[in-house]
Amino acid sequence: MKTESQRTIAVAPGDGIGPEIMKAVMAVFNAAQVPLQYETIEMGKDIYLAGNSTGMTETAKRLIEQHGILFKGPMETPKGAGVKSINVTARKVWNTYANKRVFRSLAGVDTVFSRAGIPINITIIRENIEDTYGGIEHMLTHDVALCRRFITRPGSLQVHRYAFEVARHKGAKKVTCGHKANIMKITDGLFLDEVAREYPDIAASDIIVDDLAMKLVSRPDIFEIVVLPNLQGDIISDLCAGLVGGLGFAPSANIGDHISIFEAVHGTAPDIAGKNIANPTALLLSGCMMLRHLELGYHAALIENALLATLEEGARTADFGDKTHPPLSTPEFTTRVANNLGMQPHRSDIAPAGVSEQKFTLPKMPEINRMMVTPPPASAEIQGADFFVESIEQPAKLVQGLAGKGYTISTISNRGTQVWPTASRFTELINQYRVRIEKRPETSLDQQAVLALAQKIAGHLKICSIEYLMAYDGKKGYSLAQGQ
Ligand code: NAI
Repeated sequence: MKTESQRTIAVAPGDGIGPEIMKAVMAVFNAAQVPLQYETIEMGKDIYLAGNSTGMTETAKRLIEQHGILFKGPMETPKGAGVKSINVTARKVWNTYANKRVFRSLAGVDTVFSRAGIPINITIIRENIEDTYGGIEHMLTHDVALCRRFITRPGSLQVHRYAFEVARHKGAKKVTCGHKANIMKITDGLFLDEVAREYPDIAASDIIVDDLAMKLVSRPDIFEIVVLPNLQGDIISDLCAGLVGGLGFAPSANIGDHISIFEAVHGTAPDIAGKNIANPTALLLSGCMMLRHLELGYHAALIENALLATLEEGARTADFGDKTHPPLSTPEFTTRVANNLGMQPHRSDIAPAGVSEQKFTLPKMPEINRMMVTPPPASAEIQGADFFVESIEQPAKLVQGLAGKGYTISTISNRGTQVWPTASRFTELINQYRVRIEKRPETSLDQQAVLALAQKIAGHLKICSIEYLMAYDGKKGYSLAQGQ
């Protein structure tokens, strides 16, 4: 029976298979007498189509901000220019900086690894706000597109700290950071931060993401907690879903300091929507993560154990399991789970009744937007600038007319490869160059000087973009061109 003192959460069934699997999860929650109240909100494709470009109504937004929890089904973002993904928007506006995804072998879910007797229990912590998911893209020339990739120190610290807290809470012995800092030395280098020093009890290591992908497939049992930048985390977590039986078994939690969002990793599965054959397991497991977040560990364990017991019995939906047995529909599978409440699995680890690493408190509307900034360096100097310009001239011709007092043109590159002063004739060119100017040792450079130079260049070339070459505490904050 519901009471007034019960917490309320916002629930959005979603699109495609969303309503079918949300209905299944709610049936199990009700059978387990989960002490929550649910407020169904309007969010998803239909809200877009009704003309709301954020994909959610103002009331939906208010209710999510009031309750601090959104439990959502998958949502479809209509295709078309200028339309942002509702899922990405929701994660970003409420600052759910860490996406936690748990992948573990489940008895009854047959995989290559379960057959080989190799257990998997990997938690991926994916940075959830930054990286290319800023969606900041421009055509710089008719042939050249640019996507800006932001990696920030405060954002990286936030997600790493969360990963170590998860590790400590789970009793994990190590946190592995996946990255591509061998190529993106500055951005991924920043992601590889120093937070590990605050957690001397947990081993920290790092691994290049391509090596990680290979090792996850060959030795998935050696990983416990893996923290990754957004895009790499997105790809690696789908790979991990494949290791444990597919997207039907991949739950996720988008964790913020104020508001958190719980959803399955998979999408709306348009190919099977409306047929009542979808697997509700991933959303049910996401629901259990949510219950732990809400300090309802007893109910999380009750449901999870019933689910594990059901899978062990061989109950399956069409997407997995022993194909010699007929699959169950979503409602049939759901009834089996509900009937198994109170049972425990024999072959899987029994789900613990523990709660989340963070204590849940209702969100309070901040008076202003929090500025996250780390201590500034003692010195910040402009050492030069990169001018990205459009041109179909040969590099030697391009350089003419760019020379000036107080600076040198140190390099010109095309697609990141140096084409002047030294170059290979085999380097093929596109209609956009980067011209790097650097100050002479005896001079100094300020913004005005760079912009004055820009004005001069703009007299005969189209400038697509300008970046300063900054040095912080004397350390270069920019990369060299390939071949420089
Ligand atoms: P998808 O995850 O919807 O489907 C991929 C494949 O997995 C399909 O064959 C589908 O039938 C199957 N599948 C997914 N979930 C399943 C389940 N619970 N039970 C059984 N089979 C399942 O990926 P897709 O097709 O790339 O995306 C479809 C739509 O979903 C797109 O509009 C996309 O933008 C959206 N999407 C939404 C997400 C979210 O709301 N968080 C996440 C990913 C995609």
